Amino acid sequence: MAANDSIFLGAHEAPGQHSVQRCDACGADWHELDASPACPHCGGLLAIIHRAPLDSMGAPAAPAALQHAFAQHCCARPSGHPSGVWRFEQVVMPAAGAAITSHPEGNTPLLSRARVSAWAGCDGLLLKHEGYNPTGSFKDRGMTVGTTQAVRTGATAVACASTGNTSASLASYAAQAGIPGLVFVPAGKVALGKMAQTLAYGATTLLVRGDFDDCLRLVQDASRELGIYLLNSINPWRVEGQKTIVLELLQQMDWHVPDFLVLPAGNLGNTAAFGKALREAHALGLIHRMPRLVSVQAAGAAPFATAFRDSFRERLRVQAETIATAIRIGDPASWDRAVRAIRDTNGLVLSVTDEEIIDAKVQVDAAGVGCEPASAASVAGVRQLVRSGVIRSGDRVVAVLTGHVLKDPGMLVELHQQRDDFAHANRPVEIEVSVRAVADVLARRTREGA
Ligand code: F0G
Repeated sequence: MAANDSIFLGAHEAPGQHSVQRCDACGADWHELDASPACPHCGGLLAIIHRAPLDSMGAPAAPAALQHAFAQHCCARPSGHPSGVWRFEQVVMPAAGAAITSHPEGNTPLLSRARVSAWAGCDGLLLKHEGYNPTGSFKDRGMTVGTTQAVRTGATAVACASTGNTSASLASYAAQAGIPGLVFVPAGKVALGKMAQTLAYGATTLLVRGDFDDCLRLVQDASRELGIYLLNSINPWRVEGQKTIVLELLQQMDWHVPDFLVLPAGNLGNTAAFGKALREAHALGLIHRMPRLVSVQAAGAAPFATAFRDSFRERLRVQAETIATAIRIGDPASWDRAVRAIRDTNGLVLSVTDEEIIDAKVQVDAAGVGCEPASAASVAGVRQLVRSGVIRSGDRVVAVLTGHVLKDPGMLVELHQQRDDFAHANRPVEIEVSVRAVADVLARRTREGA
């Protein structure tokens, strides 16, 4: 196994350190407090390699003992609630100590909803709803860890490029840490809820005249030249936090592995994080087999899905266009790591059309659960796999809903109030101040429903 393929630190590596940052490309190790956004030698992406957790006798911790520790362990926050990220501190950032900046976050539910299962054709479908995080998306799990690292390294400012959720999350955590936040978003392409949050939490917001891929290039250059700490998902500590989506859902399933784990994919940070979480959980004996990881892209932003059909022979990029603005990304940054995640898990990559995304969102919303458009790609992906016979009756499937329904209110208002061709439109009805008017509306609704 090459040096950069190892899962945990060897006994004699990096003495005195809990974790190192290792370059994916050249295998060089960097101190865990090095704040470089990429390998200072070759520019490769950095990954965190931890020392495997030990028991009180200094021997490798047994899986049952680790599971017990994860169930017990919580960082006491002022609110008294445990964090669904820091509960897994030993495999996320063991040396965080007092620097932890947490809301708390995580502890998101695993839902089962008959309406969504029936629509997707999958009885065993569970929805891991990351929209229940404090800023309404899964980004908070990576951001609590990335911001904690910013505090540990004494960062004077933090920055990210974003399609909206990362910027909302960064703005919130930067405010909590008391560090100035700077966000780069594509002008005119960020959903209303995300933009409102970012402004409210007080980040300096740059509306870049370009797309997300331009924003990511610009923030990388700016952070290198201006010494600002980069908090995009290529930040290796963000990846550590996002691993806890997988750890937490496995814990919720009593460490029984689902057959399929399905998630929306844009910049591929989450796909990469899921792959790392599963490799580590397997190496620690927490699980004994891998679920098949399924990354779902929007058809208009699907370079990874296209490359998958050709066995990832080439790295592709496209000019991205989709109604799901969160995953409107044409040149995903965590490509190689995501390829590894798909290969390690005998995984799949799909694309779904904007129509399929809207259909899935209508079902999730009408079940009273709700999610943002990009999140619904995972449910649309499940339906596609059921129809093609890949997911079979009896399979246990977890679809990740990555963001809250209120992230994109503009789209909801358009669908329900403005568009004439939307079959599921739930139009509000304006009435006079009279019970008679209420009765008329109810009677009409009953007739329409009959
Ligand atoms: N779902 C939502 C709601 C997202 O906001 C994102 C990414 C994804 C899925 C895709 O995750 O990039 O790790 O493959 N949003 C980023 C952002 C790009 O800036 O908020 P990914």
